[in-house]
Amino acid sequence: MSEEEVELEARLAEQDEFEPPASFVEQANVSDPGLYEEFGENWPECWEHAADLLEWSDGYDQVLDDSNPPFYEWFTGGELNASANCVDRHLDERGDEVAIEWVGELGETRTYTYEDLHEEVNAFAASLRDLGVEEDDVVTMYMPMVPELPIAMLACARIGAPHSVVFAGFSADALATRMNGADSEFLVTCDGYYRRGEPLEHKSKSDEGVSGVDHDVTSVVVDRLGDDYDHPTIEGDHDYDSLVADHAGETVEPVPRDAEDMLFLMYTSGTTGQPKGVKHTTGGYLSWAAWTSQAVLDVKPEDTYWCSADIGWITGHSYIVYGPLALGTTTVMYEGTPDYPDKDRLWEIIDDYDVTQLYTAPTAIRSFMKWGKEYPEKHDLSSLRLLGTVGEPINPRAWKWYYKHIGGEDCPVVDTWWQTETGGMMVTTLPGVGNMKPGSAGPPLPGLDVQIVDTKGEQVEAGRAGYLTVQKPWPGMLRTLYKNDERFIEEYWAEYSDTDSDDPDDWVYFPEDGAKIDDDGYITVLGRVDDVINVSGHRLGTMEIESAIVGVEGVAEAAVVGGTHDIKGEAVYAYVITEDGYEGDDDMRERIVAGVEDAIGPIARPEQVVFTEELPKTRSGKIMRRLLEDIANGEELGNTSTLRNPDVVTEIERKVKGD
Ligand code: WT7
Repeated sequence: MSEEEVELEARLAEQDEFEPPASFVEQANVSDPGLYEEFGENWPECWEHAADLLEWSDGYDQVLDDSNPPFYEWFTGGELNASANCVDRHLDERGDEVAIEWVGELGETRTYTYEDLHEEVNAFAASLRDLGVEEDDVVTMYMPMVPELPIAMLACARIGAPHSVVFAGFSADALATRMNGADSEFLVTCDGYYRRGEPLEHKSKSDEGVSGVDHDVTSVVVDRLGDDYDHPTIEGDHDYDSLVADHAGETVEPVPRDAEDMLFLMYTSGTTGQPKGVKHTTGGYLSWAAWTSQAVLDVKPEDTYWCSADIGWITGHSYIVYGPLALGTTTVMYEGTPDYPDKDRLWEIIDDYDVTQLYTAPTAIRSFMKWGKEYPEKHDLSSLRLLGTVGEPINPRAWKWYYKHIGGEDCPVVDTWWQTETGGMMVTTLPGVGNMKPGSAGPPLPGLDVQIVDTKGEQVEAGRAGYLTVQKPWPGMLRTLYKNDERFIEEYWAEYSDTDSDDPDDWVYFPEDGAKIDDDGYITVLGRVDDVINVSGHRLGTMEIESAIVGVEGVAEAAVVGGTHDIKGEAVYAYVITEDGYEGDDDMRERIVAGVEDAIGPIARPEQVVFTEELPKTRSGKIMRRLLEDIANGEELGNTSTLRNPDVVTEIERKVKGD
């Protein structure tokens, strides 16, 4: 390092507050600090600003109907179509401009202008109708990052059929559970995709999933691998390309949807073993995705914006598909891994396409850091104007590395806290307004009432840890869990609300995150306080993993916790007791890993499987997870005298350390 660099490094290491770069503020979509006050004073009407970003076929009567909390309704009486908003309305002004830039892993590219997107979305919407999809039928998508995925989502939205996208890395079982849960009779899937240059088969996994669905399924298969894979077919399969060719040139009128009609379902993990079907609506969700894209990601139509998430998660829904396309910008989609063919793949794409914003996850940033600054240095990244992160807390060191080596100290970094249920961003700085404090997400967005409280619901003092709560509704919020209002209340509201009240002030949303707030209102999110762990920004339920492990022959009992991991944030640690007559050997370990992969997918694969005779339990028989976490993290163990079986702790500790 040169002397100058050493100096800079030292300055960055000390600095804990950064002003937004003046060059950014000058051109920012939002640069007026008065917005916080304005929205606060004019709530809930302030959210008309979000609705105004959309085109409504019929105007709404009321911004918020809060007469039946927590079943809030937004923009009631309004009608709109999400596909028309993301495609049709840009045709006049931006028909020839690029909507989707797709980069395949092998280096092939596809460019869809808004005109192209309109054509293909219409042809596929006509195909879906032809297959019998009707308004309100749930269509499942089980696909990797191919352009047909957003096209299918928009085609569904066009005909008023909610979609339910299942991450392609999930297992066949996970697909079946979600299709059964959503009563979904239609599936759009794919023969496979490329990973590290090699074809990866997907169709047989998909077929296996379908065989676990308890009703008939009609499938459409996208042929991504061509001659590289002669994929199997099953009854009810249709070929995507043939359908689209048959319906080429047809147009399908976008179906006007009520603001509160379901746009999509997205399954996510919770405390119990059963994934939750989060319901998002057409008016509120789309307004939220558009408004936050504009205010936080500073998206403008002329941008080439890139969110490197997978569309199989909420981040991809809101910030690859709906937010950016609603604003008429160019959204980049990359099929593959960030280190194929080399570790500069992202920087190469940014350089090639003059990408203006990059939105990624802390786990990715930590990998980039490990690979070294020489990779970004090989490329011209000066097109970048803003950087964002999401998915888990970002450590200040990774934040600063991102700010310096990717943003060239010229781009604001937005650390955005939100979750599947919130539909879009909730806590973050506005990049053209607030100072950035690495490690702290920032204040709640204007118009949001976020408070950090103790177990009784009282606000905690500045600097103290507490629980993050949202005290007022917002347009992007989930409306319920699919066909399960009771669980919706139980999971998100029961903790801090008076559930007998019909006064909205008595209802408080609890996202199950711990946090602390500083004097200046900046919020540092500390992580989940329920049995959910966050592996590489992916949310996994420990109960789901445990039930997969207990399903393996010879396993008597299992406890799963998250242990800290340098790159992934958290990693899965499984503590397992075998049944009599079974050995905790390598074969057993392999079968456990395979069991988890089959039930959930490789993302949930345990990093460590520790066989033990007993699990540490309290006298009342509850597993002491906190202790198992401490062991996984190699931390000093607190008092173990309250345990029924304190000796087991030393034994487990020894095994984890590998002594
Ligand atoms: C959980 C939600 C948000 C889309 C991707 C994940 C954690 C998310 C942050 C952040 C600290 C964060 C929370 C949250 N989380 N963003 N900026 N700082 N933690 O969505 O799968 O629904 O997970 O991710 O724990 O509850 P998700």
